[in-house]
Amino acid sequence: MQNVLVINGPNLNLLGAREPDVYGSTTLSELESLISGWGARRDLEISCYQSNHEGEIIDRLHAARSVHDGVIINAGALTHYSYALHDAIAATELPTVEVHISNVRHREPWRRQSVIEPACIYTIFGRGVDGYRHAIDHLVNRAAAEVHPYRYGPAEDHIADLRLPPGQGPHPVAVLIHGGFWRDHWTRDSMEGLAVDLALRGWASWNLEYHRVGSGGGWPATLEDVARGIDHLESAAGDHNLDLNRVVTVGHSAGGHLALWSAVRPHLADGTPNPVSRVPVRGVIALAGVSDLADGHGRGIGHNAVDEFLRRTPHDGPERYASASPAEMLPLGVPQVLVHGTADDAVPIEMSRTYAARAEAAGDPVTLLELDGVGHMELVDPDDPAWHTAAAALQGLG
Ligand code: DQA
Repeated sequence: MQNVLVINGPNLNLLGAREPDVYGSTTLSELESLISGWGARRDLEISCYQSNHEGEIIDRLHAARSVHDGVIINAGALTHYSYALHDAIAATELPTVEVHISNVRHREPWRRQSVIEPACIYTIFGRGVDGYRHAIDHLVNRAAAEVHPYRYGPAEDHIADLRLPPGQGPHPVAVLIHGGFWRDHWTRDSMEGLAVDLALRGWASWNLEYHRVGSGGGWPATLEDVARGIDHLESAAGDHNLDLNRVVTVGHSAGGHLALWSAVRPHLADGTPNPVSRVPVRGVIALAGVSDLADGHGRGIGHNAVDEFLRRTPHDGPERYASASPAEMLPLGVPQVLVHGTADDAVPIEMSRTYAARAEAAGDPVTLLELDGVGHMELVDPDDPAWHTAAAALQGLG
């Protein structure tokens, strides 16, 4: 991946002035210089193009075929009805990432449908202008290592991406579980940098998608997906020589919650142990993990994300914590490494400190690695020393 075309469609020339409460205050020219900088960091040459005209965008895509290696497109409202644009994207045969600044799934019903999505390799929405940076990272990470996608259920979100290290195996497996406070605009691309890095460290990775709050997830669907997604490793193990006795879950933030939870995977109705889990989790790495839902509720983390995830109403009792919160499920019975930055303002480090003390008192082998001055996102940046610390801990568990 060397040369990427970024297309912005109708009305995006008005960015900054147009509905700033929806699209933010960054202008198109500011956005384009941000994008060029993000591209340069990944050794990419970026060409930016904007047009309000469907035919011109289609002509630009046709011309891209022989010049560019990938495309990022925010097609504006054309997204929702232009089959001609779908066909043009398909005709280029270039990996194309669809981006939307706003959360199109939570707006008018007609914005929820994208007719170009089937022609694109990935869709990113609702992350503001950062979505373009994530699209660049996705193109680069996807080109860096071959991806074997596995479907573990009938829905679009029932997908796990397998990446393999070099060599014959048997390979230890890191199940990657992304964060984003269980909400739908965060998806598994946020763990892809780690997946690429792990292959170089000799680990296969199984990067799980799951239903999230806002698109059919929350308690219990999210948890059911994670349990099912991990067990689906069985179907890939034979083809790729995966060592299912060396499976470690690695989760970030809300994904850290799911990674800890998956070590036990209790029955959701009553929190009792679940003997039907077929692939045992040998250890857990929780990166700034939400290990204690009651504590997360009390602190109101992620704008009351725990309440949304648990679908609690003021009339509910605390029952759901028993089947969903790792802190209520101790001991988990497997080694756990909690990695947490002292400067994390999304999930405060105090949560890991309290959880570690409780886990240890319950007899679990637990290690808390406190990283001085480190915030929330460094832990999933493969170039950051914070991730290197976590990756070294992972080697100890595999
Ligand atoms: C948009 C969403 C579209 O529905 C809208 O028509 C746009 C911008 C976004 O970036 O959020 O113009 O693509």
